[in-house]
Amino acid sequence: MTEVEDEIITLPVDERYHTAIESYKKAYKESLEQPETFWSREAGIIDWFKKWDKVLDDSNPPFFRWFVNGKLNASYNAVDRHVLGGKRNKVAYIWVAENGDEKIVSYDGLYYRVNNFAKALLDMGIKRGDRIILYMPMILEAPVAMLAAARIGATFSFVFAGFGASALAERINDSQATLVVTADGSFRAGKIVKLKEIVDEALTMSSTVKTVVVVKRTGIDAPMQEGRDVWWDDVIGHGSNYVKPEEMDANDPLYILYTSGTTGKPKGVVHSTGGYSVWIANTLKWAFNPGDDDRWWCAADIGWVTGHSYIVFAPLFLGLTSILYEGAITYPAPDRLWEIIEKYRVNMLYTSPTAIRTLMRYGTKYPKMHDLSTLKVLGTVGEPINPAAWKWYFENIGDSKTPIIDTYWQTETGGFVISPSNGLGLPPLKPGSATFPVPGIDPTILDESGKEVKTGQKGFLVFKKPWPGMFMTLNNDPERYKEVYFKKYGMYYTGDYAVNDHDGYFWLLGRADEVLKVSGHRLGTIEIEDALISSNEVAESAVFGRPHEVKGDAIIAFVVLKEGEGGDGDIVSKLRNHVRETLGPIYTPDEIHIVGALPKTRSGKIMRRVVRAVFLNQVPGDISTLENSASVDEIKSAIELVKRETSL
Ligand code: PRX
Repeated sequence: MTEVEDEIITLPVDERYHTAIESYKKAYKESLEQPETFWSREAGIIDWFKKWDKVLDDSNPPFFRWFVNGKLNASYNAVDRHVLGGKRNKVAYIWVAENGDEKIVSYDGLYYRVNNFAKALLDMGIKRGDRIILYMPMILEAPVAMLAAARIGATFSFVFAGFGASALAERINDSQATLVVTADGSFRAGKIVKLKEIVDEALTMSSTVKTVVVVKRTGIDAPMQEGRDVWWDDVIGHGSNYVKPEEMDANDPLYILYTSGTTGKPKGVVHSTGGYSVWIANTLKWAFNPGDDDRWWCAADIGWVTGHSYIVFAPLFLGLTSILYEGAITYPAPDRLWEIIEKYRVNMLYTSPTAIRTLMRYGTKYPKMHDLSTLKVLGTVGEPINPAAWKWYFENIGDSKTPIIDTYWQTETGGFVISPSNGLGLPPLKPGSATFPVPGIDPTILDESGKEVKTGQKGFLVFKKPWPGMFMTLNNDPERYKEVYFKKYGMYYTGDYAVNDHDGYFWLLGRADEVLKVSGHRLGTIEIEDALISSNEVAESAVFGRPHEVKGDAIIAFVVLKEGEGGDGDIVSKLRNHVRETLGPIYTPDEIHIVGALPKTRSGKIMRRVVRAVFLNQVPGDISTLENSASVDEIKSAIELVKRETSL
């Protein structure tokens, strides 16, 4: 750590702003010392139908409410105001299909489509407050459906189209959605994923859905159930279908997004309409400072929070032109990203460390094939970036000129929380550090007992104050919201380890809980264990991560089979397939080890950390830290058991 800490890269501050780090410091100070003044001004980035009465109501912590009684509509801010305000003909999206086809949609075109689908939703009986599920590929209909829901005040929950049937059913059930929007299939690395079939299977495990709207994307046969399933093209109108945007309260939910936690059940993160919108529009401006003529490309999937905030809402609120790319980054060849940057003269690229590490393995030959000179700013998100990948990105993609904006944040935070602020005053960068908190975020690093750690020491990252983009609660589970995030320290606990160095820079060091980061995707070990147990063969399982040089974490599973199971040699591939179909391909374990027994505490809890420590050859000197609910003797015999079972 000290080696990289000492390496500082100072870049000229964006010339359009001519500010130094001092103006970031000034804004940051004001945001914490005079939040009323600060947020009253910054909330002006959004058009409000009615101004709020109070910036923050903190009378019922941890249920903080921002912009109390303010009224707005997210779809109005994304399209109407640009159509009315002089950007009618500006390009909103350049959509690039996996096969290279393109569609270019102006703000007016987007407005037309959003109104049409909003009308269709109303005609299908969806009204304000209803919940709908979107299970869609990276096609234009995806942002259209999100904005149409927001327009009529329906709460959408987007389920990443890589999830399997059980994962989808669970989200439908928890959200009590009555309508699903999907596609017949999606293109992924040259193959077709039959999305509609997965929806059909999920609907055998849920009962609230009355209507399924299907976009024809691939043209494959999709079984349509009479009375329930309709084609997108058949329900959208083709005339002037203006739908007046609902006046939503700042604290009405905009969407629910499920994310993994430390139990088998995903958490339904509920985002507000007002605070969230103010947060993501400002953070995009502060961190990347996009100009009106810049072309922005957030190369994430729309089904994750990065796509929600920075492919859909924030760039549209700011009236930017975005790239929306349908397919895989290495398909048909590893120069796909670079080819798109050259062809569409992209100015800002925002992607994940896993994507960078993947492309880095192919060498510099591929980026060198293309003119990348339009790039001004590069960004990363989703997992810590190792200095080697940072430097490769900086030197080979950014030509050692463009800042790397390493944005640390979470589904729960709504938008960036620790990140360099290129739009306020760019700090000198340290490869691998997300640098400083964005205005409004008051971080500290604590030890297990709640004491602040010393400079340079690792601890748990906590935010001391609420911020406008923070989620409002967990769907159907306010108790879990309090318990998971606020009980430990009485303030927002991120679940991440961090260090603050002698210059005040923050370094994010990964999850401190039972959550994995696999290719930037957040996965719960217990979800995978539950999926393994739901197969016919498995009695018990322990899942954990092993550091992987490209993906961040590789998924390792230890399983005990039920009596009499496992006779045929194919059990490992059978179990891998089972997890793939239940939860989705990203959850597929990299390794499955069949053992005769797993160590357990007296209360029956499997000692996952012990298995992991033995497997990774990392049994600590102080073994009591491995499992706080077991005695040292129990842990010792647990270690022996794992060694015996695995001959390690
Ligand atoms: O562990 C942190 C890691 O990703 C987690 C949040 O995952 P998710 O809710 O899926 O959101 C991902 C997109 C925002 C965090 O708790 N993480 C995210 N960004 C970074 C990061 N770790 C280090 N550096 C980052 N820039």
